[in-house]
Amino acid sequence: MTRTLVSNIGLLVTNDPTQDGTPLGLIKDAALVIDNGLISWVGSNSQATKSDFENSIDANGNCVIPGFVDSHSHIIFAGDRSEEFRARMKGEQYSAGGIKSTVALTRAATNQELLSNAHRILAEANSTGTTTLEIKSGYGLTVKDEARSLEIASSLTEETTFLGAHVVPIEFQNDPDGYVDLVCGEMLDAALPHAKWIDVFCDKGAFTPDQSRKILKAGIAKGLKPRLHANQLEAGAGIEIGVELDAASVDHISHISDNDISLLSGSNTVATILPGAEFSTRSKYFDVRPLFDAKLNIALASDCNPGSSYTSNMQFIIALAVREFFFSPEQALWSATKGGAMALRRNDIGFLAVGASADFSILETLSYIHLAYRPGVQLIEEVWRRGNRI
Ligand code: NIG
Ligand code: FE
Repeated sequence: MTRTLVSNIGLLVTNDPTQDGTPLGLIKDAALVIDNGLISWVGSNSQATKSDFENSIDANGNCVIPGFVDSHSHIIFAGDRSEEFRARMKGEQYSAGGIKSTVALTRAATNQELLSNAHRILAEANSTGTTTLEIKSGYGLTVKDEARSLEIASSLTEETTFLGAHVVPIEFQNDPDGYVDLVCGEMLDAALPHAKWIDVFCDKGAFTPDQSRKILKAGIAKGLKPRLHANQLEAGAGIEIGVELDAASVDHISHISDNDISLLSGSNTVATILPGAEFSTRSKYFDVRPLFDAKLNIALASDCNPGSSYTSNMQFIIALAVREFFFSPEQALWSATKGGAMALRRNDIGFLAVGASADFSILETLSYIHLAYRPGVQLIEEVWRRGNRI
């Protein structure tokens, strides 16, 4: 296979702290080489000779960053909830109950409709710099509909998550524990061939701490790895359960206590912030600096879904994180790349050093700061995944 040189990179973000002693591992006037889909060399532009390569790309002095690793999305669904959004902007509150209207539409959709909708959103995500996207089920909530949601998801990503425990569907309204048994039994078995992760929405209007523990443990016993929707709508035991079960990540964590922070700081569980959900549900933004002070590993993700956060654009998420959640531009970029990779327990993506997957974007600008400084503007010039331009 041909080797490709990317030269004339004004500023390269490697996320390899050995480069400059900072988490972003910055190199000015850099170049990199791609061999067989992987990064095989990173260094100074002056050491790279174009004539040695059949393929050579000029970054025009612009900034190159690792591809975004978006570790949280729900893109297997049908329809939309724009009317619900409009009502919310007029003052109505977001609740977990809205999920049920997407469930009805998803059950009625064909596989082809679900696939083409998900494909459309994945294309949006790719074109705005995302090179890895985690995708959850959770709008089927029957054995058949969860299994087909995951089968479709697995045709689009290797990071698939079984979220049969998204909400209790209408037909189990009077028997939530019966639904939990179904999720832990037949539904889990049907999900297994297509899922890597298991997730539970542990919150008000969704699943209790005891139910959440039971479901996650059932998934773990069958070989799935846990992650959680925790403390989005109210304070609770979600983060505690995540740490107890060594979840890769606890997500949302909009209501986090000092005790939760100290539990997380002694764990391998990443804290994932989803600013798009606060934006779209008009919930209170919060200051993440105490989490950084506690040296937590923090990821940023889109939470792309038709209810609480209908965006696939990680550039927008970074802008929100910096303006409203007090991330520095450096922390936001790290969390959207390396942080996301850690939230998926991946050590082959989210950074640009020898051996890493050649997943990166060439920006239109000289600096990554523009990702927050120029909100709503598409700043991605080229996206590369596994050494190929996409
Ligand atoms: O992560 N919180 C639970 N699930 C989604 C919302 C899903 C929906 O409203 O359709 C979330 O925000
Ligand atoms: Fe979510």
